[in-house]
Amino acid sequence: MSNNPITIFDQWFTEAKKHDIQECEAVNLATATKDGVPSNRTVLLKEYDEFGFVFFTNLESRKGLELKENPFVSLCFYWKELGKQVRIEGRANQVSDKEATEYFDSRPLQSRIGAHVSQQSRVIKSDFDLVKEVAKKTAEMIGKKVERPAYWSGFRVTPHKIEFWQKGNFRVHRRHLYRLEDGVWEMELLYP
Ligand SMILES: Cc1cc2nc3c(=O)[nH]c(=O)nc-3n(C[C@H](O)[C@H](O)[C@H](O)COP(=O)(O)O)c2cc1C
Repeated sequence: MSNNPITIFDQWFTEAKKHDIQECEAVNLATATKDGVPSNRTVLLKEYDEFGFVFFTNLESRKGLELKENPFVSLCFYWKELGKQVRIEGRANQVSDKEATEYFDSRPLQSRIGAHVSQQSRVIKSDFDLVKEVAKKTAEMIGKKVERPAYWSGFRVTPHKIEFWQKGNFRVHRRHLYRLEDGVWEMELLYP
């Protein structure tokens, strides 16, 4: 194995894509309030490199509000077909407006309209209300550029721990844990 966990992640993620694993970019994101009350949900990984792992969301959603008071998160990928799991722990920093806008502008029209309509995580009276709001917003937007709403952005998770889990025979699974120590990735093996 490489001594750079980002390189290993890239190899594993590329392998997952090659295997046509559906939504291999779907990742469980755990956040917590400042008092340590946890919550988790799935988001889509949109980008990764040595600076971190990026997802996009509504800043006023439950996760958005939790990240405001506690930026520490954990991400967990599981690719059953490969018998692989990757766990990432780090700090989520909001991406720049420029980066958020560039990604927002690349999204399909319906997704951009959806971002304007969805007050993510807040109470809605009925599903029909949502359909009506989408139709109304779509009509309003005809011939106009659908701009990124200020409350819609992304986060880059800068990792300080990355763990690779590989399924083995007879439950002899392999776990490689990488920890960032003074800017250097240290690796240790863990009992499965
Ligand atoms: C496969 C999948 C991908 C998802 N991707 C995203 C995403 O990238 N961003 C997002 O805000 N929500 C995404 N969601 C919805 C979230 O899981 C969640 O329902 C929503 O963000 C509200 O979460 P919250 O109330 O904890 O903030 C996705 C759900 C699924 C099942």
